[in-house]
Amino acid sequence: MNNKKLVMIPGPTPVTRSIQDQMGRETVSFKDQDFIGDFKGVVKDLKEMWRTAGECFVIAGTGTLAMEMAIANTTKRGDQVLVVSHGYFGDRYIDMCRRRELEVDVLSSEWGKIVPVENIEKALGEKDYRVVTITHVDTSTGTKAPLEEICKVAERFENTLLIVDGVCSTAGEREFVDDMNIDILLTGSQKAFGVSPGLALLWASEKALERRRSLGTRSGFHWRFQRSGEGSERNVENRGGVFCDCRNRNPGNGDGHRKYHEKRRSGSCCLPWILW
Ligand SMILES: Cc1ncc(COP(=O)(O)O)c(C=O)c1O
Repeated sequence: MNNKKLVMIPGPTPVTRSIQDQMGRETVSFKDQDFIGDFKGVVKDLKEMWRTAGECFVIAGTGTLAMEMAIANTTKRGDQVLVVSHGYFGDRYIDMCRRRELEVDVLSSEWGKIVPVENIEKALGEKDYRVVTITHVDTSTGTKAPLEEICKVAERFENTLLIVDGVCSTAGEREFVDDMNIDILLTGSQKAFGVSPGLALLWASEKALERRRSLGTRSGFHWRFQRSGEGSERNVENRGGVFCDCRNRNPGNGDGHRKYHEKRRSGSCCLPWILW
């Protein structure tokens, strides 16, 4: 059978042979020192490349999961959110935010056109938005938002975090988190990264991390109906790339977990931010 397929869409994109070969390696444990070293290296490199002193999260999932992570970690019920939509994926944030019981205002463009930056500036000045979302390139129409201009405008609104959906742009377009004052940038591995589908990537600025801390315990736990492995002795969890077999975890309370590892001064897991 001929397995060769040429995909010529924004994503998933073709994956080079060398990456395919790596994906065929033997499975390793998430506690394997080589894996831990590799994972930490990836996160460090991603933080450097997208220039943030904040944090980068690499989790098993889709771009949509990263979209939801961004919202879930920065808002609470009743918060005002401004969604700037240039098409299908921009609109996805409307539904997502309403489901989280946020107060959503929408600025939509005619498909194929952009929402003028002046309109975004005007809207931001009218309410105390906690978050504004923007899709850098909306795959449905190919519309590219003037991100640098939008970042400059958003920077003036201190209480408003700028969330940028980069699923169709990150690694293909200019996006530097701290330099451009992006608060959260998110993408999936299957597009301009040229890696196979399955990883969601999210960069959070210090300001976004501070917002997360200020919200305290959040509901939800890796979108479970039921956490897999619950009740099993070791309770091994895949926190989406942040792997942990720590029995001392207090779900929803990052502090308890963190303190445990500080005391232990080791651990095969832990990034300092909890997902939800
Ligand atoms: C701009 C944009 N945002 C979000 C998504 C959702 O990503 P996923 O399909 O990985 O959930 C896509 C998918 O094509 C996209 O193009």
